[in-house]
Amino acid sequence: MLSYLENLPGKINIPELTNVLGERLKAFSQRVVPAPYQKLLGELSQFKPGPYSSRVLDGTVSIGHPNDLSQQERQKCIEMARKFGPWRKGPFELFGQLIDAEWRSDLKWERLRPFLPGLKDSVILDIGCNNGHYLFQMAEQRPKIAFGIDPTDQYYAQYQFLQYFKADPRTQMELLGVDDLKFFEQVFDVVFSMGVIYHHRHPLLQLEYIRQSLKPNGKVILETMTIPGPADYCLFPKDRYAQMRNVWFVPTKEVVISWLERSYFKDIQLIFDVKLTEQEQRVTDWSTFRSLSDYLHPDNSELTIEGYPAPWRTAFIATAPTTL
Ligand SMILES: C[S@@+](CC[C@H](N)C(=O)[O-])C[C@H]1O[C@@H](n2cnc3c(N)ncnc32)[C@H](O)[C@@H]1O
Repeated sequence: MLSYLENLPGKINIPELTNVLGERLKAFSQRVVPAPYQKLLGELSQFKPGPYSSRVLDGTVSIGHPNDLSQQERQKCIEMARKFGPWRKGPFELFGQLIDAEWRSDLKWERLRPFLPGLKDSVILDIGCNNGHYLFQMAEQRPKIAFGIDPTDQYYAQYQFLQYFKADPRTQMELLGVDDLKFFEQVFDVVFSMGVIYHHRHPLLQLEYIRQSLKPNGKVILETMTIPGPADYCLFPKDRYAQMRNVWFVPTKEVVISWLERSYFKDIQLIFDVKLTEQEQRVTDWSTFRSLSDYLHPDNSELTIEGYPAPWRTAFIATAPTTL
């Protein structure tokens, strides 16, 4: 199951990891709500498996060409893509059909790119990789592996669906969470933690796991929601933040620097600090429910609907210490 991890550097506790993952996959295959993803994935065998030609064009991950499938097959494939929705991260193009997700993930990638270390031949981890949009972006640079972890069934299923057609052995994804990094020691050259830190109760523990999983002098790219506010203060929402129940805290950017410093990272460099806009997060045909404009205060876009400061997005790159 995890054989592709066997030849990576560092120490990986593969037996423990296999046990954890076995349980998760068992639960995944038994879950039927909101969609029986396992059953849907089983239906993929009606299509010829990948690899189909793929590329990233203007930030869109494009897999397959319209002529690769018959018209009927293509129609079925698009119908299936809809059943895996809503699509939060994108954009993708599948056999010529645009999957215009809620988030323009390509915009963040464009902001990050000039600051990233070379990814060629590197061992990369993407924590909270969602449906793998960034894994596919990373794969363009020919890493040794771009390994993604995310514990959410739906995103795992979306990745499996796309990867059936893309079939790129350089990307892999598992139903794991940030806590499972305890099984990895000095494995990765680069770790991405983007949009995840605030979904877990313990920011410093996460940074400790990240540091431990990185090789000495490896790089972390830490991207998070932030709020403008007094330096060194962190918001702990009483209940929801921008309607999200699973946001435990929102730091100022100075707090993020302190977290990194106090977790022994060095060479901390700000990559970007921008207000989140409706250009980046919005309702689309592939994610029809609600989006940023519904989560901001109707009379003041500087505030969330709950009256907290509205979200910014902030990213840093930092270097792991030479010793643990
Ligand atoms: C806001 S999205 C960010 C997705 C992507 N990394 C990005 O930057 O656009 C948060 C992601 O973190 C995942 N997530 C939530 N809890 C997690 C955990 N404990 N470990 C790893 N990922 C988690 C969610 O399933 C979701 O895909």
